[in-house]
Amino acid sequence: MNNFLSSCLALCFLVLLYETRIGEAAGRNLKDGISLPSQKKYEQPYRTGYHFQPPSHWMNDPNGPMLYKGVYHFFYQYNPDAAVFGTIVWGHAVSYDLVNWIHLDPAIYPSQEADIDSCWSGSATFMPDGNIAMLYTGSDSKLRQVQDIAWPKNLSDPFLREWVKYPNNPILTPPEGVKDDCFRDPSTAWLGPDNIWRIVVGGDRDNNGMALLYQSKDFVTWTRYTQPLAAADGTGTWECPDFFPVPLNSTNGLDTSANGVSMVHVMKAGFQGHDWYTIGTYSPERENFLPQNGLKLSGSTLDLRYDYGNFYASKSFYDDAKNRRVVWAWIPESDSEEDDIEKGWAGLQSFPRAIWIDRNGRQLIQWPVEEIEKLRENEVKLQNKKLKSGSVHEIQGITAAQADVTISFKLENLEEAEVVDTSSADPQALCTERGASSKGAFGPFGVLAMASKDLEEQTAIFFRVFQNQNGRYSVLMCSDLSRSSVRSSIDKTSYGAFVDIDPRYDEISVRNLIDHSIIESFGAEGKTCITSRTYPQFVNYDDAHLFIFNNGTQSVKVTQMSAWSMKNAEFVMDQTLKASA
Ligand code: FRU
Repeated sequence: MNNFLSSCLALCFLVLLYETRIGEAAGRNLKDGISLPSQKKYEQPYRTGYHFQPPSHWMNDPNGPMLYKGVYHFFYQYNPDAAVFGTIVWGHAVSYDLVNWIHLDPAIYPSQEADIDSCWSGSATFMPDGNIAMLYTGSDSKLRQVQDIAWPKNLSDPFLREWVKYPNNPILTPPEGVKDDCFRDPSTAWLGPDNIWRIVVGGDRDNNGMALLYQSKDFVTWTRYTQPLAAADGTGTWECPDFFPVPLNSTNGLDTSANGVSMVHVMKAGFQGHDWYTIGTYSPERENFLPQNGLKLSGSTLDLRYDYGNFYASKSFYDDAKNRRVVWAWIPESDSEEDDIEKGWAGLQSFPRAIWIDRNGRQLIQWPVEEIEKLRENEVKLQNKKLKSGSVHEIQGITAAQADVTISFKLENLEEAEVVDTSSADPQALCTERGASSKGAFGPFGVLAMASKDLEEQTAIFFRVFQNQNGRYSVLMCSDLSRSSVRSSIDKTSYGAFVDIDPRYDEISVRNLIDHSIIESFGAEGKTCITSRTYPQFVNYDDAHLFIFNNGTQSVKVTQMSAWSMKNAEFVMDQTLKASA
């Protein structure tokens, strides 16, 4: 029996066990465990094999990720009652490797006046005495957004299954000038050299988004600092602000409270459907953050994003076991609400990414955490293959619906590149105008993933190279979803961004994590990331195809390609483990 089949059988067994438990449970309430819809393989073509998702229902933001006593904790915004947004609790899962997960019962759920409507996003902070403070947003009985706090009930349980709320919640209410429904998502706290804790909370005043800054000595009494730590006009409410240091010239991470020379700080905020960031210098003495080049988080096409596709409300944590910073993000659906209700679930998480600063100090690099490699099998390789104009070459020998594929291209005769002034171009608009079937000189070339044999359905991830009048080259990375599905209820918006490399010297590479309905694409070893959702009608588990293609007039060379089939990650229920113990 092959591994895939045995994993499926094991999962069916767990599903049966768990369904029995659910069937027996009478009168469920918000803290009850999570239930399972049909997991039958062919009825659920869009469920993933190795991306995190709960067994059923709605999931959005990652919350309070951390490593505690050798166990990774992942909490998430979860509606235990439906596949659409609703009354939100904190789903909870634990893992020893960020790959395989144990689903636990929800950790934090409405129970107090200060969170009775919902328990929204928040973050974990380790206290110097080893305790953990979980700050989160409560939507209270008047639907005001307030900030609350909870602690683990039993620190000797490495799974931290139970949480106790501060009886005097809320610890923060919306300040003057910030509307009751525009004040949320406390960050991980950091401790200054003055022994004062700081957090930022997202909000806006008159549509000007900001990271409101608060200070505290005891973690329960917080005072607002007059100036927000960062702000930008006209962006709307900032959601899920994240603020953390990164060391220069290193791929390591730093504890959120670290400060000093040889490091810079990152401010990230979510608004207008994307996660934006700037890099700058933070001074706890002056209590300010000065972004490099005066760049603001303004939502302009020049601003930096973690990911230029479908990727939102990210949250990072410092993993002290591996000395790295890891970021998670909610990957929303792009099918319809009716589709979600029919599927019985909505929302994925990105595969956890290590995040560090590029050698040039100008941007962040993201890369799937190395543990993912344990899921790889059946490597297929290709070397030095010329892709002539118009060629489409199938990569065979891997499970194309669940794969990890890296390809590097090298271009020659770059003087033949089209002349396009990209200085003020909107990359997403360029990708939309010039999709995968629109011929250029260099490009489009790249991959066609989740494709049907006849290519009627295909999700294209590709590059184009332009030369500017000043003799510089621009590399554009795109996803083209226009042919990703014959289904009409799908949002097929194309995404795009420029990649900060010079094709005269650098190879143009892309790694794609393909997992049924998600493709996470990492251009130039993580400089530019685009996550796409795809819902093909005719492409299925064993019947998905992967191609590399070149639709430009110029040839391109694939210097190297490595593709692996990806095994299923294991997702088990805590109850099942307990029942069988
Ligand atoms: C971001 C967000 C947060 C909020 C949460 C509610 O997706 O809107 O601002 O806390 O989701 O689920």
